Amino acid sequence: MAADINALKDWRFSTDQEGIAWAVFDREGERVNTLSRRAIEELGAIVIRAEELAAQGAIKGVVFISGKDSSFVHGADIREFDAFRSEGDVRAALSQATELLARLEKLSVPTVAAIHGMCLGGGLELALACSWRIADRDDATRVGFPEIKLGIFPGFNGTFRSIRQAGPTSAMTMMLTGNMLRTSAAKAMGIIDELAASPANLRWAARKAVLSAKRSKGAGMFQRLMRQWPIRGFLAEQMRKKTKDKVREDHYPAPFRLIDLFERTGGSDKAMAEGETRAFAPLMVSDTARNLRRVFKLSEAMKAQAPKGNFKPQRAHIIGAGTMGADIAAVCVLAGMEVSLQDINDDQLKRAAEQAKALFRKRLKSRTEVDAAMARLLLDGKGDHLPRADVVIEAIVEKLEIKQLLFKNIEGRLKPGAVMATNTSSIMIEKIAEPLTDKGRLIGLHFFNPVPALPLVEVVRGAGSRPEEVAKGCAVVTAIGKYPLVVKSVPGFLVNRVLAPYMMGAMAKLEQGVEREKIDEAAKTFGMPVGPLELADQVGLDICKHVADILGIATGAMEGSKLAGLVAAGKLGKKSGEGFYVWKDGKPEQKTADPPYNTVELHLLGEELVKPLIDECERCRDEKVVESADMVDAGVIFGTGFAPFRGGPLNYRASQGLLIKRSEAA
Ligand code: NAI
Repeated sequence: MAADINALKDWRFSTDQEGIAWAVFDREGERVNTLSRRAIEELGAIVIRAEELAAQGAIKGVVFISGKDSSFVHGADIREFDAFRSEGDVRAALSQATELLARLEKLSVPTVAAIHGMCLGGGLELALACSWRIADRDDATRVGFPEIKLGIFPGFNGTFRSIRQAGPTSAMTMMLTGNMLRTSAAKAMGIIDELAASPANLRWAARKAVLSAKRSKGAGMFQRLMRQWPIRGFLAEQMRKKTKDKVREDHYPAPFRLIDLFERTGGSDKAMAEGETRAFAPLMVSDTARNLRRVFKLSEAMKAQAPKGNFKPQRAHIIGAGTMGADIAAVCVLAGMEVSLQDINDDQLKRAAEQAKALFRKRLKSRTEVDAAMARLLLDGKGDHLPRADVVIEAIVEKLEIKQLLFKNIEGRLKPGAVMATNTSSIMIEKIAEPLTDKGRLIGLHFFNPVPALPLVEVVRGAGSRPEEVAKGCAVVTAIGKYPLVVKSVPGFLVNRVLAPYMMGAMAKLEQGVEREKIDEAAKTFGMPVGPLELADQVGLDICKHVADILGIATGAMEGSKLAGLVAAGKLGKKSGEGFYVWKDGKPEQKTADPPYNTVELHLLGEELVKPLIDECERCRDEKVVESADMVDAGVIFGTGFAPFRGGPLNYRASQGLLIKRSEAA
């Protein structure tokens, strides 16, 4: 059903003196554009109007452009996805959108997508139905198909249109990885036809494209050949192999169904369009997709904890340039901050600078950017820059008296309003704050190792920490592109507290004689990113033992245990080259089981291994270590990598409960 063209709410449609029709997408009451049901119906009205005007010869072309600051179209509106109850519902919604885009594609006049800001998912599918795509070179402009991260793939016929435009290898990689591309890369691939120097040039470029009736030719002869059999079958097999290296089909079916779709129908646009809807609908209503949407919503809820006020951290001062401090400083620099790094040891400072440079080289495109980043990192042995900082983070040795002394010495030098934080992993915030004049100022910002890779930071609320300081802590965390989790100051906070019984439980299994490889394989079968023994080796066995001691978990860590023996022998895991495993080139040497482990046994063992973790999550929820059950799930997913497709430990247990109830009722 199309909306009334004279009463549009999310779009504006007008024709200028040159006969160019402008369809401006600007969703009412929203910060970003998403394709909601209403926005699609209104787009339907625009397409019908454009057909009429084109038939009358009243327009030369249509430009689709956004009225928002940095959002062309972020994709379909995920908030509406949960309303789909059946595959039939999904197919009905899809056919409305795909028929609409097919009509748009057939318009007799040129259609131009003029892209500034995020052009993702359904937004890119809209752009692909146009006859010409222009994107600006602005850093805020990105194109991509993130659907795979939500357990689905493009469903508005983006599968065949992207392949038709860019060829199967590039388009499938884009859909299978969900990566967002800069516009220069998208242009090189053929997804974008033209680049505009800046947002200011976009309208002019679109006008010119309409007046010169630009139409994209799509992928060349060679790429078209790649869609034919048997090359297609060969490509599909390669894609399957690569995907299997990253995810398991029983956990994440969407990429495998997309590869099947390409393999079976990729030679024909029409067959692929039909096959896309058929394969998409069951994925959309699956538990995996529902749980991945939950993870997305949880991540948004975590980001929303940062206050919208005017606290915008621009300068950070980090004290302690060891394992953690060096990385925290580098991550702050990457987020655009100016950072001063202090340490009592000059060699540590030099090492930290080298480590930061290596990270900048990996993450940044050009030498100029690396140089600029290095210029934002000041080595500050004496702490001269501390009074200028908006946030001060301490990451020195884990000793109460030394931390207390440091904070006492610096407290009076901080500028008013600056955040004062410790990265302690095990000391209570209120203990560190004891000698301070303003005890309510201190909070914890607990980063995880390795800092550049791990997305969560626990914002620790000591018994006396002021709520506004905690809120500012959340702002610091979001400013560096990570997710803040507000936790109470209890031993282990949330993440280490739930991880410890899980890892100790695994070690207890090892004591009972279960093979280490089997234990790790079972946890991965459940959906954990790495097994608990491999994880213990990565974290460092000394740290594991220390955490277990603090939390009073005896099992597995007691005198005479394997863990205690390894620590006493200096076999601390990855960092010393040996722990539960021998480590070579950053990887543990693991034996392949021959014959392979029994799948049912692996499933049962996996369940047994995660049980103590989930039990501890329930206790944390009951003790309100974090605000809500949802925040327990969010923290454990982003802090430990707990099987995202299961929607979090508490969600998983609740869903198991439902299953049992259903089977009892049946
Ligand atoms: P580290 O031993 O690698 O580095 C500590 C650094 O602090 C050294 O460079 C040392 O020279 C410097 N330092 C010591 N006293 C100082 C002072 N008074 N002023 C300035 N610099 C001083 O330690 P790491 O592993 O980086 O840990 C730092 C903090 O982060 C600890 O509180 C630890 O509990 C916490 N943490 C550690 C994690 C890890 O996996 N290593 C994870 C999360 C938190």
